[in-house]
Amino acid sequence: MTVGLNTQSSLSMKGEGYYSAKTAGAKNAIDKTQELLLNFLKSLPKQDILRIADFGSADGGTSQEMWFNIIDNIRSSGDDRQIEILYTDLASNDFSVLFRTMQGMQGDKKFAFQKEFPNVFVHGCGTGFHEQLMSNNSLSLGFSATAMHYVSERPCLIKDHVHMVGAKENERDLFKKQALKDWEKILLSRSKELISGGRFVCINFGIDEKGWYLGNTGGHNMFDNFTKHWKNLETKNIISKDEFINATFTQHYRTVEEFIKPFDDPNSEVSKSGLVLNSYKTMFTDCPYKIHYKKNKNTMTSQDYANTLIPTMRSWSETVFKTALQNRNDQEINKIVDDFYNSYQDEVSSNPDGHAMDYIHIVMDIEKK
Ligand SMILES: C[S@@+](CC[C@H](N)C(=O)[O-])C[C@H]1O[C@@H](n2cnc3c(N)ncnc32)[C@H](O)[C@@H]1O
Repeated sequence: MTVGLNTQSSLSMKGEGYYSAKTAGAKNAIDKTQELLLNFLKSLPKQDILRIADFGSADGGTSQEMWFNIIDNIRSSGDDRQIEILYTDLASNDFSVLFRTMQGMQGDKKFAFQKEFPNVFVHGCGTGFHEQLMSNNSLSLGFSATAMHYVSERPCLIKDHVHMVGAKENERDLFKKQALKDWEKILLSRSKELISGGRFVCINFGIDEKGWYLGNTGGHNMFDNFTKHWKNLETKNIISKDEFINATFTQHYRTVEEFIKPFDDPNSEVSKSGLVLNSYKTMFTDCPYKIHYKKNKNTMTSQDYANTLIPTMRSWSETVFKTALQNRNDQEINKIVDDFYNSYQDEVSSNPDGHAMDYIHIVMDIEKK
């Protein structure tokens, strides 16, 4: 039996801080946008209270150092205004890790900005970012990293692949349509929240000019590999055909054209709402585990590399495969999912050439006029 098309559990990151601990690349991509945000902060209209939001923050660990540095910079410039920072994610997110991290009870204590700086108020919101999450005209600076490729619902299950990047054209079109509808909703919601002159900066997974995307940057294609190893389990009758199909990522990687479409038309709802796209670019971020392995080939084995690469893939993809098996007991689910990732790990171990999880982001600077 196929599972329902839409379930929040298949979107969540692995909890208890695992996500941040295993995703150095996502953190590197965020850190690269710090300068951009600092520049925008200078030009924001001065409000009595500076309201910031981090949409789709997961456990908050990957953006923590950047927000620490930004708040430090604000305070060093003599700006002592009250700062409210709203972390948003789905209700299924592990917010308790986030709150503990910001209070210095977990993670890297030196970046626990809520503890380090007075007048900084941390809030959490468990409603999806397709909705309006803050009151009208209240948000000065919105930020989102690596989150808005999650579509609000799967328009179909993909028959022969696990991700829309490998789906048949008719399936891909359905995802594209859903993603466009969602993008417009996201933008219209941010438009309501932003003050006039406020900024929304997002770095989203997408497809660049070369057709590259996460885990597909010239070497092996990670999503094809997920598909291959998942299919092998079906071929060996370990999972059923339905369970194969159930593992459909609730994601769409938009192209640059898809991202800018609502801004291109002056009569679109988004343009009419006052949102303007100031600039955009594509951004490549090296897989940190690949770089580490390249630098340490004398002391590291290919097995060591595989042992670091697969957990980073697992941190955000595991819930999709587990949810696909939801009619089984936990023991069975864990065994099948372990076997699945182990077989991918063995492949990397036997020949690591071309295996990596490089990141491709589309960086956008959006302003509310
Ligand atoms: C890959 S993580 C990125 C986390 C962090 N921003 C980073 O860059 O490391 C994606 C996050 O988006 C969240 N997410 C997915 N759909 C969402 C939605 N509709 N509203 C809010 N958060 C969502 C997921 O729960 C997850 O925590």
